[in-house]
Amino acid sequence: MMRRWKSGISIALTLWLAAMRPALAVMGKQGMVAAEHPLAADAGVRILRSGGNAIDAAVAAALAVGVANPSSCGIGGGGFMLIYIAKTGRIYALDYREKAPRAVTATTYIRNGKPQENLLRNGPLAVGVPGELAGLNAALKRFGTMSFSRAAQPAIELARNGFPCGDHLAREIARTAAALARDDGLKAVFLHPDGTPRKTGETITESELGATLQSLGDEPVQSFYRGAIAAKITEFMKSRGGLIGSEDLAAYAPVWRTPLMRQYRGYSVYSMPPPSSGGGMLLEALEILEPGKTAALGLNSPPYLARLVETMRQIFIDRATFYGDPDFVHVPIDFLLSPARIDAIRHKAFEVHPAPQAPRDHGTSHLCVVDHAGNVVSLTTTINTPFGARMTVPHTGIILNDEMDDFALAPDVANVYGLRGASPNSIAPGKRPLSSMTPTIVLKDGVPVLTLGGSGGPTIVTATLQVLLNVLDFHLDPERAIRSPRIHDQYYPPVVLIEQAMPQTDRDALAAMGFRIRTLPMLGDEEAIQITGDGYDGAADPRKGGAAVGY
Ligand code: GLY
Repeated sequence: MMRRWKSGISIALTLWLAAMRPALAVMGKQGMVAAEHPLAADAGVRILRSGGNAIDAAVAAALAVGVANPSSCGIGGGGFMLIYIAKTGRIYALDYREKAPRAVTATTYIRNGKPQENLLRNGPLAVGVPGELAGLNAALKRFGTMSFSRAAQPAIELARNGFPCGDHLAREIARTAAALARDDGLKAVFLHPDGTPRKTGETITESELGATLQSLGDEPVQSFYRGAIAAKITEFMKSRGGLIGSEDLAAYAPVWRTPLMRQYRGYSVYSMPPPSSGGGMLLEALEILEPGKTAALGLNSPPYLARLVETMRQIFIDRATFYGDPDFVHVPIDFLLSPARIDAIRHKAFEVHPAPQAPRDHGTSHLCVVDHAGNVVSLTTTINTPFGARMTVPHTGIILNDEMDDFALAPDVANVYGLRGASPNSIAPGKRPLSSMTPTIVLKDGVPVLTLGGSGGPTIVTATLQVLLNVLDFHLDPERAIRSPRIHDQYYPPVVLIEQAMPQTDRDALAAMGFRIRTLPMLGDEEAIQITGDGYDGAADPRKGGAAVGY
């Protein structure tokens, strides 16, 4: 009872502090967590303060954000993690992306000869084999200091004791209410008994998820992939015509991959390799921009924005053409980033076409952690679109992902983000769908100086690029770098998306250059921590209501 009371006070205090904070910038000397929900940042810092390292805290924060922002991520999804270990100075990349079930075939998503995009986005066929718990557990076992049950404790308390629904979650519930009503588990947690959506400030309690997390003990992989939870998932899949079977779960394994790295103006920028496209695209953009004296153009000046648009179009063309799961296709990263090729595309002109509807997404979640020893974690996790496949495994609270939509169903069929792809990202049994997640760590002279990343489908890559440039080229602190208005262009649909906070003069100037533009309230969501000799300066994006917590 006492623990419950204390935890309630801690939650209230964290939310009050987050609300009262005049700016989102936070300084820390010992450790810091920047996450998309104040309670997730708080969970990570609790672990740091109790002696855990950055990996322990990242696992705690990832599990907690899966409770507090369950529309974005959770144990029914998967992700990517970049880890810097201070003792050795090495960086590791962990891929715990979902995989296509073994039973998937060329005709799974075809009806009457036509591709059915909806089957990739909603319902049992949308679900990829989850990787989240296998990944978190692998990171913890290799680099953490705490047991899984200890790292999971803050998330368990949040789920069981309840927490006030944040603005972001309330918006996601409201816009998906009709779909939530069709699933008993989602309906019970996120809607009132009369079917109306729960609103900001109301208590959300996820008792079944809390019990599931508690039941994982210290061997989450055993239970989720081979034990009692695996049985519930496969039984549910079978009853609903889904494809994930016990062999899919038992065979799932996260993969340690070699991070991508390129130099940018004296900085070593490390990011995620395929099956995320994010790292390669970010590094390609930096290579294209490097000699362009980006800073001299002026932050968000029309020539700077036009240069960004051209760069973004190129990297998205390359994404669609070359990227896929490296266990299935060769992704020619060295060719894509080769000096000769970069030189050839620097001055290429881009056509402008009429614009169809542009993508919009508020799923996925990013968090950054730095600890007192200087270890760094940059972690992005997702169940894909808000509330994933919009289905829960009965009586477990596990919201299943709709990651199958990140595959390219057919060359002329765009996914929910408007992204098209080619055969490298075609669907195949056991294959990982391409991602845009871009967890990134920047070193100077071998020492981390910045970690960042974000959420929001393809806007992850372009938002991460702009925040990185804002810090490295325009010398903004993380808070101002994140707050600064952003643009996004992914070549198809050929429209430049511009946040409404961007001055009208910039929008007019881009329109005058012939770009078709469209204004949106927000593009992506970013978290960043800058590491200086004085300590840690972190910020979370106000766009989704996150927080950085330091001490
Ligand atoms: N599910 C969004 C991404 O991985 O890019």
